[in-house]
This record gives sequence, C-alpha cells and structure tokens, in this order.
Amino acid sequence: MEVIDQKKIPRRTLYDGTEIPALGMGTFGSDKYGPEQIAQAVYGGIHAGYRLIDCAAVYMNEDRIGESLDRVMQEGIVQREDLFITSKVWNDMHAEGKVKESCEKSLRDLRLSYLDLYFVHWPFPNYHAPGCDGDSRNPDSRPFSVEEFMTTWRQCERLVEEGKVRYIGMSNMTIPKLEAVLPLCKIQPAALEMELHPSFQQPELFAYAKAHGILPVGYCPIGSPSRPERDRTAEDVADTQLPELVEIAARHGIHPACLCLKWAVQRGQVPIPFSVKEPQYISNLKCITEDPLTPEEMEVIRQADRNCRLIKGQVFLWPGARGWEDLWDMDGSITQ
Ligand SMILES: NC(=O)c1ccc[n+]([C@@H]2O[C@H](COP(=O)([O-])OP(=O)(O)OC[C@H]3O[C@@H](n4cnc5c(N)ncnc54)[C@H](OP(=O)(O)O)[C@@H]3O)[C@@H](O)[C@H]2O)c1
Repeated sequence: MEVIDQKKIPRRTLYDGTEIPALGMGTFGSDKYGPEQIAQAVYGGIHAGYRLIDCAAVYMNEDRIGESLDRVMQEGIVQREDLFITSKVWNDMHAEGKVKESCEKSLRDLRLSYLDLYFVHWPFPNYHAPGCDGDSRNPDSRPFSVEEFMTTWRQCERLVEEGKVRYIGMSNMTIPKLEAVLPLCKIQPAALEMELHPSFQQPELFAYAKAHGILPVGYCPIGSPSRPERDRTAEDVADTQLPELVEIAARHGIHPACLCLKWAVQRGQVPIPFSVKEPQYISNLKCITEDPLTPEEMEVIRQADRNCRLIKGQVFLWPGARGWEDLWDMDGSITQ
C-alpha cells in the first residue's frame, strides 16, 4: 500500500496554535457501508497516512473503529499522540448528565483514554432514529434554545476540564446561533463542522468562523454522492458533474472528487472525505500533497457555488415548522 509522506500533508492551526492535518477521513457509512468495511478503511487509511478520523456515536461503528485504532497502535504504525480523533454527542444525549455518559461510551468503544475533539452534532435535542425516512418527524422536537444548548455546552466544557477531551466543537450551526452562544462560552469551540463543497460554499459562515478563530471542518466535501435517500431532492447539484469542475479535473488528470478536496484544502477548511475503497481514500489524501490549483482555477470554483445544501435536516423539524429552511435561520435571526 502506498504511504503518503507526513511532511507533505498540509497542516491547519487551532486557536491555541496546535497543528492538525488539513484533511481527515469521514466514517459515516450513509446506510450503505457497514461498520466492518469502515473499520477496515480506518485501519488502511491510517496506514496510508491519515491522522484525523471523524467519528460519531450515531454512526454506530465506533466499537469497530476502536478495534482498528487499537491495532494501528499495537502494530506501531502510529502512537496515540500522532492521531487526532473526533467524536460527537448525538441529539438524544444533550440533557444534564448525558453528555458525559455519551462521551465515556465513545471513549470505551474507540478504546481511547481521551478524544482530541468532541462536537455537539446538532444544536438541538431533536432525535430521529438512525435510518429513518425523510418524512419521519418526532413530535417532541422543538426549535433551537440558547438555554438548552448551553446546558449541553457546559457539559462539554467540563469534559475538557476533566481531561476527557482536548477541544470541543459545534456542528450544523448558523451565524445567528453562534452570535447568541459564543459570548456565553467559557471554552470556545475549536472547530465548526459544516457542510462545505464547491456547490455549497457557505462563504458568510466560513468567514465568520475564521474571524472568530474557529476552524471550519467541511463535511460532504465531495457532495456526498452516496448519501441516504432521505437526504436527496430533485434540485440537488452533483459537484463531481459540474462542467467547470470536470474541466479543471481533466486538466490536472484527477477525478473531480479529488479536485473538490484540493479546492477545500487550498481554501482553508479541513475536508473529511469518506471512502471505504483503498484507491479512493489514498488518492484523496495524496492529491492534496501535489500539483496545487492556480489562483484562476480557485476563482472558477469559487464562482461554481450554487448555494445547494444537501443535508437539509428536515427530520429534525418540530411541529409547526414551515420547512427545512427553518433549521438554518435564513432570514438572519434564530427561527422560533
Ligand atoms: N457533522 C455532520 O452533521 C455530518 C454530516 C454528514 C457527514 N459528516 C461527516 O463527513 C464525512 C464525509 O461526508 P459524506 O460521507 O457524506 O460525503 P463525501 O465525503 O462528500 O462523499 C463520500 C463518497 O464520495 C465518493 N468518493 C470518495 N472518494 C472518491 C474518489 N477519490 N473518487 C470518486 N469518488 C469518491 C464515494 O462514493 P462511492 O461510495 O459511490 O464510491 C464516497 O462514498 C462523513 O463520513 C462524516 O464523517 C458529518
């Protein structure tokens, strides 16, 4: 297996100066790939040079990924401090006392004594069962509440104080929500995990995060071509088929998927592409170490933005909500 030289992998800096890799590996199987395949990809990926692995309790594979993490360390491929492992607290574990329970379960499953970064996966306790269809709604769902969010965040802060996690982060946030909670944080978020790909660049939120010393981590960096049915609509754009991307990719002799990743890294977010296929996950890491895009190519891709959100989150809507747009505070204030 090809091993990518660590020295060639670009790095990004967290607010306190700590460096992390500029690209990581995603681990959500999109209801299509099972824990065994994903754990194998994590093992192979670390062997090939991945050091950042994006996990979550709700992906229901942390126990198998833990076996791979154990194996790479037993085999001396890496040591714990070489890795940057993230996990996330799921929506049904936000209440007082539950965040610690969730974190401890992830630690046990991943076979780790600490996590590098722990995200609040979604900023409300609205729960939907894994694998549910797009029309499913939970009658207990409710709009974002600053108070409820801060109950969750305070528990995350305590995990840092207790040494169980090094950094904490938020995910699926909006500028109005960040404006409301950032002044209340005792420990600031180190990263913001958000949907980012050429057809959905979120320039305002991206700039806001950067300006506040929060590193944007980009999910669905390739446009999630294997995402679940519940996350598909007829209007969705396929990034890897955008003519301007196909053309630039051909010029560089790479798959458009790799072009998405080169663009993401050069723009300054940390993409976390998913693949269980060895040639894909190796080329995803390798492509960011060579043959950079020109400023003109970066500009063409900037202009390819279609404001096309793929993960609309409609399964988290509360009774009375108008539509998925309500989750994203489109009119500039927190939707109630
Ligand atoms: N915080 C959140 O709420 C949130 C939400 C969504 C995702 N995430 C995280 O972000 C990660 C990435 O998102 P994602 O998995 O939805 O989407 P993605 O990384 O944009 O797309 C993954 C798919 O792209 C294809 N692909 C990957 N590398 C390729 C290559 N070199 N050439 C051609 N095709 C390639 C594969 O399709 P095939 O399977 O067809 O080969 C793969 O399944 C997730 O795994 C998860 O860790 C977080």
